[in-house]
Amino acid sequence: MDGRTLQDRLDQWPRLHYGRTPTPLEPLPNLTRQLGGPQLWIKRDDGYGPGMGGNKGRKLEFLMAEALRQGKRKVVTFGGLQSNHARMTAAACAPLGLEAHLFFFARRPSTLPGNLLLDTLFNARLHFIPFGGGGDASLTLEQTNRLVRWLSWALVGRSYFMPVGGHTVIGCLGYVAAAVELAEQVTALGLAADKVVVVTAVGTGGTLAGLMAGLRLIGSPIQLLGLDIGKLWKTFPASIARLAGDLCAVLGEPHTFLPANVPMIAETYAGPGYSVMTQNTAVAIHTLAQSEGIILDPVYTGKAFAGLLDLLANGRFSPDTHLIFLHTGGLPGLWAYGEQVKG
Ligand SMILES: Cc1ncc(COP(=O)(O)O)c(C=O)c1O
Repeated sequence: MDGRTLQDRLDQWPRLHYGRTPTPLEPLPNLTRQLGGPQLWIKRDDGYGPGMGGNKGRKLEFLMAEALRQGKRKVVTFGGLQSNHARMTAAACAPLGLEAHLFFFARRPSTLPGNLLLDTLFNARLHFIPFGGGGDASLTLEQTNRLVRWLSWALVGRSYFMPVGGHTVIGCLGYVAAAVELAEQVTALGLAADKVVVVTAVGTGGTLAGLMAGLRLIGSPIQLLGLDIGKLWKTFPASIARLAGDLCAVLGEPHTFLPANVPMIAETYAGPGYSVMTQNTAVAIHTLAQSEGIILDPVYTGKAFAGLLDLLANGRFSPDTHLIFLHTGGLPGLWAYGEQVKG
């Protein structure tokens, strides 16, 4: 189907609109010159959506509309202590008069920096559960969501439950829409779509799954490369493949994605694990800040950009490639890492 048809199908879902699209797609001229390789670009989803923005803005447009449609007064979600998804959910709930309940499987920290500070500004209810933090890939993403859903029901009662990272078919319609947007921008810039690779950080995989489904549905040859930043989940590629397949199905053209074909580099760039900042991440943050004046975050985009720099150094891409780094946000996390960001 063409992009217009896909947009029309997406319009059948209730949706809030958080900002102007398309988000900017900008060249990175200085870094491209410095590295002397493929042309580098950045797509600025970092400022999109409520509460300082990020990739969750696109997912929350659909998720919050669904919460309202169901008439729920409470919204529950969860994540790591510096969860951007939790922060943006809290920001989305505040003006709608909905109670945001955020679950963190960690001890309550003595101070609440970065995203946690913003969570309190948005008047979210913070639930710190000092066990079951996981993060060791002993459970699948779906098992984790089921457990937290049950726990939140016991503690909070009736609510609209949002899986970690907004990893649902409804939420990830937002990145199906983004795929259409990206393809249109690539065309408008006169770039050969089969020479374009879009690189994104992967946490729960919803952004990648949405893009996979969207590009598949419009038959775009744009390639994707997800960089896993957390090695968080058991059988993770299978979860992403299933979600991308479910997205195609609800949009009217079923397709089966095989886990082995999910375009993701698992584990390699995650370092010791989710939210553990590495020296390479600090270098990547400095590199982009000093060449282009653009800030990355320590947990997602900094780690993914470090992976991208490594792949470039190892000649992974031919010089005529156009590499688009999807900036998915996460900036408040910088203030939780303080001195570590200095490298
Ligand atoms: C800043 C940022 N970038 C990337 C991601 C990864 O997105 P996804 O969970 O859709 O893989 C997240 C959340 O998980 C995020 O907060």
